[in-house]
Amino acid sequence: MNAKLDLNNIPKLVGEKPKEKLEECFKLIDNTRYPLYFVGPSGSGKSIMAMNLAKKYSEEKSVPAYYVQLSPEQTKTSLILGLRLIDGSLKAHKGVVAECMENGGIIVIDEATHTTQEMLLMFNSILDRTSITSIGDEIVYAKESFRIIFCSNDSSYAGNIRLPQSFAQRLVTFYFDYPTFEDECKIVNRIAKDECNIDFKMSANIIKYVTSLLRDLRTKDFPLSARNGSIATIRLALATKKEVNKPDPYFTVNSNVESIRKKIAIRIFNNVDNIGIAQIASKEVNAFIDYISSVGIQEFKDIIFSSFMYFLDVDGSELMNDKIKNNIQSSII
Ligand SMILES: Nc1ncnc2c1ncn2[C@@H]1O[C@H](COP(=O)(O)OP(=O)(O)OP(=O)(O)O)[C@@H](O)[C@H]1O
Ligand SMILES: [Mg+2]
Repeated sequence: MNAKLDLNNIPKLVGEKPKEKLEECFKLIDNTRYPLYFVGPSGSGKSIMAMNLAKKYSEEKSVPAYYVQLSPEQTKTSLILGLRLIDGSLKAHKGVVAECMENGGIIVIDEATHTTQEMLLMFNSILDRTSITSIGDEIVYAKESFRIIFCSNDSSYAGNIRLPQSFAQRLVTFYFDYPTFEDECKIVNRIAKDECNIDFKMSANIIKYVTSLLRDLRTKDFPLSARNGSIATIRLALATKKEVNKPDPYFTVNSNVESIRKKIAIRIFNNVDNIGIAQIASKEVNAFIDYISSVGIQEFKDIIFSSFMYFLDVDGSELMNDKIKNNIQSSII
């Protein structure tokens, strides 16, 4: 298994809060041997934080960085240490964790709860100060610089196990919530730029609108994230635009014109309480209306549906399915 992290291929963190958190975590692994555990909802930025932390540690200490995702197929032998039949006799085989321990590197164990409790218990002796693991008469000792970071959702997400108590006791936990509105807009923009081949430039108003929409619609059972925002943003950028001389009638000859403009202003300015005529009649709202008119209202809706998991049977959301779908329908614009 090649589990070395390619340090040149890790997306940089954006946003103030995530950067502060990176520093806080780095201080901890720089000054202690504590294992870290990042937990939080899907798309909240655990994996990217863990990778950036591993990169920083690896570069500052000149040690290797590793990354591995747990799955039910992983065995103790492939992951940590075990016996393998080699040329007819059983020999100790070192997995990626043992290799990292011996090299004094840092390892990210992602999706840590996609395995069994028995597997996690195997980590107990590795997480202690002495940090060893053994099979038969083979013992692997960790170098002083060995560090380990786990990431996972909690067990309320389908397919995740609960943590054994003795394993959980040994960890320093960081909870990841979704970013602030400002940071999440930057993240949507960053992912879209990274993922799209064309030179990507999207208006800030559109990014704010889409980000505000996904933040309103997401629930624990329907975890929309910056990933969904970036898909919508890219699809909008790639959509064929019509020449428009005047806005779509939806925005002008509708009895709800004022309230439609207000809803748009609330999203773009991310403010429910302080929206007045200045915002409702602003050039930002006009620019947004022109943009959506050039894409077409129906096309805009279809893009949001297809980017926001509308057509998918998402596990965990079945009880609320109709409510979620109605909510998306009525909130898009
Ligand atoms: N602070 C950030 N800076 C840049 N990109 C970010 C940031 N936070 C999240 N992202 C991006 O958002 C997406 C989701 O982040 P990430 O994969 O780290 O989430 P996660 O919490 O590990 O989710 P999951 O539980 O589904 O594994 C990724 O594309 C990631 O690059
Ligand atoms: Mg992840």
